[in-house]
Amino acid sequence: MDTKTVWWKQASFYQVYPRSFFDGTGDGLGDLPGLIAKLPYIRDTGFDAVWVSPFFKSPQADFGYDIADYFSAAPEYGTDEDILHLIDQAHRHSLKIIFDLVLNHTSDRHPWFIESRSSLDNPKRDWYVWRDGRKPMGRKPPNNWRSRLGKRGWQYDETTDQWYWAAFLDFQPDLNWRNPRVREAMFSVIRHWLQAGVDGFRLDIIGSIFEDADFRDNPFSPHLLPAEDRGGMFFQSSDRTDNLPETVAFAKDLRALVDEYTDPPRFLVGEAFGTAGTVKAYCGERENDGLNTVFLFETLQTPFTAPAFRKLTERFEALFPEPFTPVWVFGNHDRMRVLTALGGHRDKMKLLAAFQLTVRGIPFTYQGEEIGMTQLETDQRRCQDPVSFPYRRLPPFLFRLIMKITGGAICRDGCRSPMQWTAETNSGFCPPEVQPWLPVCPDFREVNVETEARESDSVYGCYRRFLDLRHRFEELRTAPMELLPPGDTAAEVLGYRRGGVTVLLNFSPQGRPGRPAPFAGSTICVSTRAGREGKPFDGLGPWEGVVLR
Ligand code: GLC
Repeated sequence: MDTKTVWWKQASFYQVYPRSFFDGTGDGLGDLPGLIAKLPYIRDTGFDAVWVSPFFKSPQADFGYDIADYFSAAPEYGTDEDILHLIDQAHRHSLKIIFDLVLNHTSDRHPWFIESRSSLDNPKRDWYVWRDGRKPMGRKPPNNWRSRLGKRGWQYDETTDQWYWAAFLDFQPDLNWRNPRVREAMFSVIRHWLQAGVDGFRLDIIGSIFEDADFRDNPFSPHLLPAEDRGGMFFQSSDRTDNLPETVAFAKDLRALVDEYTDPPRFLVGEAFGTAGTVKAYCGERENDGLNTVFLFETLQTPFTAPAFRKLTERFEALFPEPFTPVWVFGNHDRMRVLTALGGHRDKMKLLAAFQLTVRGIPFTYQGEEIGMTQLETDQRRCQDPVSFPYRRLPPFLFRLIMKITGGAICRDGCRSPMQWTAETNSGFCPPEVQPWLPVCPDFREVNVETEARESDSVYGCYRRFLDLRHRFEELRTAPMELLPPGDTAAEVLGYRRGGVTVLLNFSPQGRPGRPAPFAGSTICVSTRAGREGKPFDGLGPWEGVVLR
């Protein structure tokens, strides 16, 4: 049984997108040697655990989320020894490390799929989801299902005159999890990496594992656009393709498998889409006997105000009481950079960090958030993300509008630009004379690790102070959450207690001088503003967040 003090409940996670993190070999691509070299940075910043996006052999059509061999490193990222070295070095730096596990689909270049598509009676045929088309002539897809991207999810294959199902992009055929052989093969992948010492997995689009066994059409939905708290779009729900009861039950099987490895206990965090209530089901109903936790993306559509954050916190607290633990995440390699979503307002970014690192739950920080990296403006015709390809010919204003509405989802290059390490050409990501795989964001001369580490009032300085406090104050990692009644603070101030400390976050450009009665005599332990530690509390500055004792 997990206790409140099990490592993953206390850890703050850092997500690395290896292709864009650090180029250790000088070819313009981030890689495993680069990541290994920067582990001390991750540790010194104050993070406890790393989630690494996929680095396995892959045609890189979806930059690693299309895997062709689950056991080997992509040569452009490193060797198989580098993977083992990465695990070992992470542990030497007292970091836990979790890998990204893509169970739903493989690349269409995976040897399994190459075999599967070769003939109707190939032994691997039933490893993927194949169906006849609808009549007349069978040239219509088997049913109306759309992929997660809103396009037709069935792909016609001439060799055998059948269609295969792909929940994401067309070159990512879904594995058929109703076939026990698939389960056996993928479970041996999981065991392989657990035995190699990995501390757990982030589970890629886990809600898509099973589809309706009878292949019934997805029902009509009144919604045109996608949203964080429901599946489906373009007037079609995803009831028959997302979050099926079989998929929810499968989470328990995964947990049982991973729980065979106890020293240390391993950790599973799922990427599923739907309301927090829906995805909570993956964690188990009464006991936390499913996934340890799941990402909750409702955070991304929450207005940046105290009442909205209070409501969201109440909601996550009600849904995820002990032994459950909510995840707090505001960005990743698929989403608009957080700071850009906040209008480039660095004080808001610091306030968000103060919230994320003090609220009860597991914080996930995507590389570059800690220095306030912004979204790279992308020319749609040069976008490398395959998701953007169908939108290439749109007039630029329309492209930008859809980018805005979808939170950057139709071209993910913007949040994947190289990590900004220094003020040198190419931001220290790769040698100055080499062209990085994506352009570096033009603000790198001011926004980079080296410069910000020297300035305590930077976004980076703020992250370090709050991460450091999290390490020093156990209550920030383990104490229950007690939201202060709004009457104790101003309406635009969100307040809560964690054990012996109080957190006050001023979601407003107005300063709040003076010491409101309940906090008179308190001392500032940390603030989003540098140099306030140890001072008596004298009110809040604009957009200031503090921890008091
Ligand atoms: C997840 C990943 C995304 C990837 C997709 C298909 O949503 O985060 O980057 O393209 O799954 O694997």
